[in-house]
Amino acid sequence: FHVEWDLVQAEKGGYDSFMLKEIHEQPQAVRETMGARIDLEQKRVILPELKMSDAELAKYDRIYIVACGTSMHAGLVGKDVIEKWTRVPVEVAVASEFRYRDPIYTDNTLMIVISQSGETADTLAALREAKKTNVKVMAITNVVGSSVAREADEVLFTWAGPEVAVASTKAYTSQVVTLYLFSLYLAQVKGTLKAAEVAEVVDHLQDIPAKITSLLEDAEQVRHFAESTKGVNSLFFIGRSLDYAVSLEGSLKLKEISYIHSEAYPAGELKHGTLALIEDNVPVVALATQPDIYEKMVSNIVEVKARGARVLGFAMEGNTDLAKSVDEVIYLPTTLPMLAPILTVIPLQLLSYFASVARGLDVDKPRNLAKSVTVE
Ligand code: G6P
Repeated sequence: FHVEWDLVQAEKGGYDSFMLKEIHEQPQAVRETMGARIDLEQKRVILPELKMSDAELAKYDRIYIVACGTSMHAGLVGKDVIEKWTRVPVEVAVASEFRYRDPIYTDNTLMIVISQSGETADTLAALREAKKTNVKVMAITNVVGSSVAREADEVLFTWAGPEVAVASTKAYTSQVVTLYLFSLYLAQVKGTLKAAEVAEVVDHLQDIPAKITSLLEDAEQVRHFAESTKGVNSLFFIGRSLDYAVSLEGSLKLKEISYIHSEAYPAGELKHGTLALIEDNVPVVALATQPDIYEKMVSNIVEVKARGARVLGFAMEGNTDLAKSVDEVIYLPTTLPMLAPILTVIPLQLLSYFASVARGLDVDKPRNLAKSVTVE
């Protein structure tokens, strides 16, 4: 027994949980995933592992992204990024739904399945259903030799290393990076971004690992808010566009390991129902990293504040405005708005981690949940 205990402790590498260790491994995971896929001299993306030709890739004009849980949330970020950079319409679907649908495939439809483990039953079933037709399936997975990796036509591996904690962290950021790289590559072959635009994103992508490190060094800035959630029953996340996609992941993380009821809402939808739940001291996490809809987001924050909400805002460094409308602010290192999700998610992961610890829960093994759901 002692030997086993020591082994587990050793595997945690000095951290009190696998989740905290994996949160801290993200700069490395992101760096590894970008690795050889960036041509530093040309400032372009290269994907040597793709078997299909650039000409084939360029013909795809519709994409389905199919996944479960956190992987599906990475897909939601991917959707916005692919659509913005390549003008290809993308639909994101939950695998357990998609597998029983009658999807509309054309000759130019690409399906992307995302799965950390590569073994999730619903994701695998969706892939197998698709393979019965002629649709091309590309997998984004973290496990070499997994079922998804073996059965898909094309594979882009995330190089996050083994993820042990049930709540996914480094797999998500690695999936998001892979989707950025794929989007850039697709934009290159379709010619929808100019070389200088690709180079600008590549430059910013390369700064991401260091920026994640600086957010990890500032972990304490979320601890206070997280600990203040100890007695609360409910917490809301709000955001617009990419911030909404990330808020879904923040909310899932919190539910998974702190058991606090939480919902993520597109901020503009609040007034269609959820606003009725906001009363004195209800905590709201408001993400406001996207400049094009920033003013709209502030109006929504003012609406929840007026009903008594206690608001933790997220803003880009240099934003001196948000502090006026919220109770506390988390500042994120500046980057391109499209890349913000990969930074925003870090303090959200830490928030759920600290909330779980404050409640004395088992961070790595939440009740009722499994790391890999291999049965339907
Ligand atoms: C389980 C895990 C989640 C994960 C989901 C999909 O629910 O607890 O963390 O996001 O499965 O897993 P996959 O391996 O397909 O990414």
